[in-house]
Amino acid sequence: MCAQALLGFDRPLELIRHTHQRLEHRCALMQRLSAHLSASGCDADAQATAGHIVRFFEEEMAHHHEDEELEFYDAVVEAAPAKSRAAVAKLVAELRGEHERLQAVWRDVLRPQLAAIMEGRSKELNREAVDRCHMLYVSHIEREEETLLPIAEKRFSPEQLERLGRGMAERRKEPYPDGA
Ligand SMILES: [Fe+2]
Ligand SMILES: [Fe+2]
Repeated sequence: MCAQALLGFDRPLELIRHTHQRLEHRCALMQRLSAHLSASGCDADAQATAGHIVRFFEEEMAHHHEDEELEFYDAVVEAAPAKSRAAVAKLVAELRGEHERLQAVWRDVLRPQLAAIMEGRSKELNREAVDRCHMLYVSHIEREEETLLPIAEKRFSPEQLERLGRGMAERRKEPYPDGA
C-alpha cells in the first residue's frame, strides 16, 4: 500500500517527511545499483531496480517538488514569525534554485542512463552524478526539515494544513480522506 494511503493527505507534513526518507533510500539504492552494474553488468535485477528508481523520481519526486513549489514554501514564508520572515524567504529562494539544479542532474544525466539500463541497453550509471544528486538532496532535505517543517508544524492553521493536503491529493488524482 502506498504511503499516501497509509498516512492520508490530511497529514501533509508527515507525508513530506516520509517522502524525504524514501528519497534518501532511493539515492542509496542508486549508489548500490552503480556498484552492482560495475560488478555484475546489466542483469535482470539491475533492470528492475533502474525501473523502480525512474518511477519514483518521475512520479513521487515530481509531485513532491510541485507540492513544495506551488504551496508549501509560500505557506511557510507566510506563517513565519515577522522577525524571521525575510531569512525564511531567502532560504526558500535558495531551495527553489536547488530544485532546478537537482532536476537538471536528473533530466540530463541520471534519467537517460537509468532508462537505458532499465531497457537492458547499457550498464553505465555515472557515479559522480549519483553522488552529487545524493549530497545535494541530503543538505536540501536537512534545510527543509530543520527550518521549514518546524515552522509549519508549529504555526500552520488547520485550514492551511487542509489546503496543502487537498492540493497534494488533487495533483496525484487521489481522494482526500473526507470524514475519515
Ligand atoms: Fe525540496
Ligand atoms: Fe522536500
